[in-house]
Amino acid sequence: MIKVMCAASALRALLAAVLLLPVAAWAGGDATAGKVKADTCMGCHGIANYANVYPSYRVPKLGGQHPEYIVSALKAYKSGERSHPTMHAQAAQMSDQDMADIAAFLSAAPQAK
Ligand code: HEC
Repeated sequence: MIKVMCAASALRALLAAVLLLPVAAWAGGDATAGKVKADTCMGCHGIANYANVYPSYRVPKLGGQHPEYIVSALKAYKSGERSHPTMHAQAAQMSDQDMADIAAFLSAAPQAK
């Protein structure tokens, strides 16, 4: 069962990587680098069902979100203009390039159902 799930997610990752290439060029971010940088985000902003892995609270959907929106949200968390301790901690260490890469990856992730 676990093996089957791993194969499926590997295939999905591969598919996503192929599909993301044109978007990465357009957004000015590198979706392949973004996928690696967004790894920690997935614990909360899981792509599969857009729910937190902890069932106690939900997080905003990020997959399919406009890259400009993701970048501006991250900048707002970083500057403190948008206040949220968890997301401030996430964004505080990011460079503009990190944000662009992550946005390129997330924006091209499958849309929520
Ligand atoms: C510990 C859980 C957690 C982690 C890890 C996390 N986030 Fe979040 N994120 C949240 C929560 C909760 C919110 C909603 C905050 C709010 O109300 O402003 C949020 C909000 C956001 C938003 C704004 C979405 C919107 O619709 O306005 C963006 C963009 C975002 N996160 C990106 C990221 C990225 C990129 C990472 C990884 C670098 C990340 N998050 C890691 C919990 C998390």
